[in-house]
Amino acid sequence: MRIDIISAQPNLLESPFNHSIVKRAKDKKLVEIHLHHLKDYALNQYGQIDDYQYGGGAGMVLMCEPIAKCIDQLLEERNYSDIIYLTPDGALFNQSMANQLSLSENIILLCGHYKGIDQRIRDLYITKEISIGSYVLSGGELAAAIVTDAIVRLIPGVLGNEESALTDSFQDELLAPPVYTRPAEFKGLKVPDVLLSGHFKNIEEWRMSESERLTKEKRPDLLK
Ligand code: ADE
Repeated sequence: MRIDIISAQPNLLESPFNHSIVKRAKDKKLVEIHLHHLKDYALNQYGQIDDYQYGGGAGMVLMCEPIAKCIDQLLEERNYSDIIYLTPDGALFNQSMANQLSLSENIILLCGHYKGIDQRIRDLYITKEISIGSYVLSGGELAAAIVTDAIVRLIPGVLGNEESALTDSFQDELLAPPVYTRPAEFKGLKVPDVLLSGHFKNIEEWRMSESERLTKEKRPDLLK
């Protein structure tokens, strides 16, 4: 899979992709992540990529030309199944969207900044709009990092068997059960006996009932 990320602040994205699971996926050549700096597609020698909004109002808007130039160049090189704009007014990101996107061959993620992007880019190029939550970030970069992380860990071969994504929270519309490691007792709190029993079937049943209990308690909306 290949993910191209277009951003006015690509430096914000360097750390999340150079550690842990995403780094491992890149090292194993299971994903390629390419960052594109909008400034490299600027309108003029001053590096202009944004301008005041028509009609007045606070905040700058990312201009059409630099974004279009960058996307057009990518589209000349290969096909993309989706060109996704990260925006607080997009569809709320969830596990089933991550599952679906992880099957893509090539996608583009476009990060907004300041007041956002010129509406005509949305009209002409964007195939999906994604929000990571009902709050406003300074830009789409952190949202792009989150979406990328959620997708990449689902690509077959990225996680080992022992850390399979199939047992994640949300994968079956349930929250994951509690987990414990050594010591067997900590500050008077004991690991549930069943987990020490070695009885595989009882352990599975306990995990399922804990998942159901926690989901009912914390996220009853998932059970509907
Ligand atoms: N850009 C700014 N806020 C955002 C959000 N909540 N989700 C996705 N992109 C954003």
